[in-house]
Amino acid sequence: MLNFTFHNPTRIHFGKNQIREITQEIPKGSRVLIIYGGGSVKKTGLLDKVKAVLKDYQVSEFSGIEPNPAYDTLMRCVDQIHMEKCDFLLAMGGGSVIDGTKFIAAAAFYEGEPWEILKTFGSNIKKALPFGVVLTLPATGSEMNNGAVITRHSEKAKLPFFSPHVYPLFSVLDPILSYTLPRKQIGNGVVDAFVHVMEQYLTYPVSGHVQDRFSEGLLLTLIEQGPKALSDPENYDVRADIMLCATLALNGLIGSGVPQDWATHMIGHEITVLYGLDHAQTLAIVLPAMLTIRKNAKREKLLQYADRVWDIKIKDEEKRMDMAIEKTREFFHTMELKTRLSDYEIPREGIEAIIVQLQEHGMVQLGEKQDVDPDMCRKVLELCY
Ligand code: NZQ
Ligand code: ZN
Repeated sequence: MLNFTFHNPTRIHFGKNQIREITQEIPKGSRVLIIYGGGSVKKTGLLDKVKAVLKDYQVSEFSGIEPNPAYDTLMRCVDQIHMEKCDFLLAMGGGSVIDGTKFIAAAAFYEGEPWEILKTFGSNIKKALPFGVVLTLPATGSEMNNGAVITRHSEKAKLPFFSPHVYPLFSVLDPILSYTLPRKQIGNGVVDAFVHVMEQYLTYPVSGHVQDRFSEGLLLTLIEQGPKALSDPENYDVRADIMLCATLALNGLIGSGVPQDWATHMIGHEITVLYGLDHAQTLAIVLPAMLTIRKNAKREKLLQYADRVWDIKIKDEEKRMDMAIEKTREFFHTMELKTRLSDYEIPREGIEAIIVQLQEHGMVQLGEKQDVDPDMCRKVLELCY
């Protein structure tokens, strides 16, 4: 096992009606800004419920954070914070709203042009406003991690940043809040969480047996419960399993002490920025091709994955790996995601544009061994057709 330091300060309130807990978390007298997306929280009645819980606080709102949160929108929120002197933020929504809030929290104190936060991947953040989360979409794990991904359309860039200052202070995880998700977002969430586990599990062995078993447990649970969320949307236990899986998939635990990949994600971000696909849609396309191209480098873990997650025991190792990759693709189809660039009518000439983007953003040595260079990315993308 590799050395590691693990610290995660986010307090989780999991279960039915846990939004009541937020008054214990937000200091009395705070000026709270509730931040949300395109309005699902209004339609579902969640916004009114949270406002009722916060009746003794001074509360204002900022709405309109879009999927793949946009820099310009977030900067408008920073202006509002300065004008209203808000000192506590409450994000209500999925990964986009939470990520947006992380950026806003850091940008509110940032001296200089806040886009630098992305250019330096968050390394120069010194301080951020405190914030909490009410999660409505299990997927990204943003509710319990210190990362965010922000899009700036004028720069054609979707870039991640990380900082110990942007862990949520607390997150409310009430599985019932996910009942109203459209089918597409149920599938997206399960696939995103699945790929998060794969990015940290499917690399090369370092005797991280604890991490491996945790990861396999999360993968097996997603495979078992994901389809049930589609067929039986108001099954509390199913939604609870999925919500917990998504959070644990990317809260730092399973990735501690093991190598990590993330090449699929970095290519996926460029596909979203250029062609507008949802985050999880890009992952469902890229991961099967990525595993195929890097089959040899990932051989031992792929064989373990085939055996322990898909129960494929056949002797022929090549076949066993291929079957595991095929099973992965089939699982994405079961969750109603497509797995080819051609399914979205992205022309083959589009591959070169993706490569140029990766180069522009310095994504030229990706993967757990930093050997995923632009040529290898091109091969992966060619296999996505
Ligand atoms: O905006 P509203 O109206 O709220 O609607 C949202 C949005 O349209 C809707 N929705 C959310 N909860 C709902 C609901 N509709 C009905 N009922 C509910 N309970 O779902 C749509 C998608 O929301 P979004 O937040 O964009 O989805 P997701 O959680 O998948 O987040 C995706 C973003 O997170 C980033 C992605 O790159 C992408 O920008 N990621 C963040 C990560 C992190 N911080 O660690 C890691 C991930 O790999 C990922 O990159
Ligand atoms: Zn993801």
